[in-house]
Amino acid sequence: MGNMRLLVTGGAGFIGSNFVRWLLNSDDASHASLEKVVVLDLLTYAGNLANLSGLDQSGKFRFVRGDIRDEALVTELLQVEGITHVANFAAESHVDRSILDPLSFVRTNIEGTQVLLNLSRAAGVTRYLQISTDEVYGSLGAEGRFVETTPLDPSSAYSASKASADLLVLACHRTHGYNALVTRCSNNYGPYQFPEKLIPLFVTNALEDKQLPVYGDGKNVRSWLHVDDHSRAILAVLLNGRAGEVYNIGGSPEAEWENIRVTREILSILGKPDSLMRYVEDRLGHDRRYAVDYSKIKAELGWEPKVRFEDGLRMTVEWYLQNRQWWATIKSGEYMKFYEQYYSHRLA
Ligand code: NAD
Ligand code: DAU
Repeated sequence: MGNMRLLVTGGAGFIGSNFVRWLLNSDDASHASLEKVVVLDLLTYAGNLANLSGLDQSGKFRFVRGDIRDEALVTELLQVEGITHVANFAAESHVDRSILDPLSFVRTNIEGTQVLLNLSRAAGVTRYLQISTDEVYGSLGAEGRFVETTPLDPSSAYSASKASADLLVLACHRTHGYNALVTRCSNNYGPYQFPEKLIPLFVTNALEDKQLPVYGDGKNVRSWLHVDDHSRAILAVLLNGRAGEVYNIGGSPEAEWENIRVTREILSILGKPDSLMRYVEDRLGHDRRYAVDYSKIKAELGWEPKVRFEDGLRMTVEWYLQNRQWWATIKSGEYMKFYEQYYSHRLA
């Protein structure tokens, strides 16, 4: 990784902050020539400087607050820091919010990506990586897995905006020959995940003896991937992926669980009763099943998931137990307005 100076946009969110921590703290020899990591993050409701605490003393790290759509700021940052690689994690990421407010997803996920892409190319950034999602493929029935050539068929404004961004990145490669590529990952879990998402919401609700709102019949399937496994995959693609390509990243078949099984497992780890579970009105446009074929990244870059879901889930529950202050602060603030708006009638 000779002289990599990396800009991580959205690096104060869940996956971006775990990626930065993992990069800067891991002993992996391939990190040795990482010169600098600069995080650019707007600190929306989902961004949190606490996610990056402890990194500020590292000479290799800098945090800048700002919007990926701010052309003047991004241009200056790319120049001043001599950025060689960009990894774009910045996004509005929650499906339920995209049902309530689709426009903010268009602004950040589509417009933001195009601005960042334009400016990266203009500044001579060597490589641009777009962090995307398996949700762009839509929903699977009982059989099969997403491959990179599965047609895009997004169900929500979130996934439609991510699909649009992917196409803009791939078009930039085709039009200009720009060294840009895309990863599409399944559901991540781990520390520092904002408690609007299934696992941290249910763990923290259970710890507060609140109800766990299971959408529909609870039989929707997600393919769970520990965030550290995702970080390893991102670095592999950033370093050695082929320009203009898409790489699927996903959990192994043993990590494809129905939501109801995830819910029961969380309650069992915490020693809480199943009576906390509550079936509620389904999410609109709720995708039934995700499952990812990751044979391309395995064959080309030697990546596959390592953390068994049962082990990773246990470690993650333990982290939320040990870090109550982190999530209690979030759950006492602005987030509760969304929770009230979205869940109060469902749980009434
Ligand atoms: P997150 O919501 O936790 O973090 C998003 C971060 O982006 C926040 O820190 C936020 O402040 C920042 N941000 C938002 N708008 C911005 C803007 N205009 N300019 C600069 N920063 C901005 O999301 P996450 O779960 O960490 O997801 C990160 C990326 O990975 C997203 O692109 C998401 O689509 C993708 N992804 C997520 C998952 C998952 O399971 N969470 C799976 C696959 C892909
Ligand atoms: O597949 C990758 C995607 O995974 C990412 O692109 C998204 O950014 C990320 O949010 C995630 O999307 P999901 O919609 O799958 O994640 P979420 O945690 O919101 O929901 C997981 C499953 O749990 C889904 O089937 C809906 C269900 N669910 C979720 C919540 C928040 C419930 O039953 N109740 C809930 O309260």
